[in-house]
Amino acid sequence: MRIVLLGGPGSGKGTQAKKLTVKYGIPQISTGDIFRAAVKEGTPMGIKAKEYMDKGELVPDDVVVGVVEERLAKPDLDPGFMLDGFPRTLPQAEALDKIMGGMQKPIDHAVLVDVPDKELMKRLTGRRTCRNSDCGKMYHVMFNPPKKEGICDACGSELYQRDDDSEATIRERLNVYNEQTAPLIDYYEKKGLLRKVEGVGPIDGIFEKIVKILG
Ligand code: AP5
Ligand code: MG
Ligand code: ZN
Repeated sequence: MRIVLLGGPGSGKGTQAKKLTVKYGIPQISTGDIFRAAVKEGTPMGIKAKEYMDKGELVPDDVVVGVVEERLAKPDLDPGFMLDGFPRTLPQAEALDKIMGGMQKPIDHAVLVDVPDKELMKRLTGRRTCRNSDCGKMYHVMFNPPKKEGICDACGSELYQRDDDSEATIRERLNVYNEQTAPLIDYYEKKGLLRKVEGVGPIDGIFEKIVKILG
């Protein structure tokens, strides 16, 4: 099963992807996570990506497509995958179709987690993320708090606040989403692949709705 997860910043793509990975046994590929790991390692790609991420802008398409193409060539993806945060522009969506078409493995579903902008701001300012990149679980100080403040329930590592979760950067990320990524909703609708899910409400309820769609 090959899935694209669509939705604004903070809509819950990562939260749902982590649950879906367990349920279906297919890896989550988050371009944001890949870039954050590269930033941490200080690779040339990470240094370049950080310039854009800190401003809430998109990393250039050629860089992102190169990274994803390399990842998609790995053999662990035979059972399928979940793309979280990619594609984010029309050229990225077209590049993905070309890559998957070449492998005769088209995308099966584009799941849109639909959440209004006002709610997204609240979610992102309160988000905390596990520092252990093998875990990377997301929490929220009010909506989804860990049992022990500042500590990940799953692995015991420290929780941190992402650099791009400041109010000004969130505002820019929302603008970028509405201008550059929202057109993909139409793109996947025209292909008959769009599965829209109301993304407000309890995390488990949203998960159940997605599972119902995916079967
Ligand atoms: P990326 O890491 O993809 O960030 P994003 O799209 O802004 O999305 P987020 O990860 O912030 O949100 P999410 O939807 O995963 O929500 P989450 O589950 O954490 O990208 C970061 C940057 O990298 C980009 O700005 C760009 O610079 C670059 N980049 C990445 N991909 C790129 C690409 N393809 N092209 C170009 N540049 C790219 O949930 C958020 C919070 O809400 C959490 O606190 C969670 O606990 C809480 N929450 C979740 N669900 C619920 C619920 N139902 N109710 C209440 N709270 C909830
Ligand atoms: Mg995410
Ligand atoms: Zn953890």
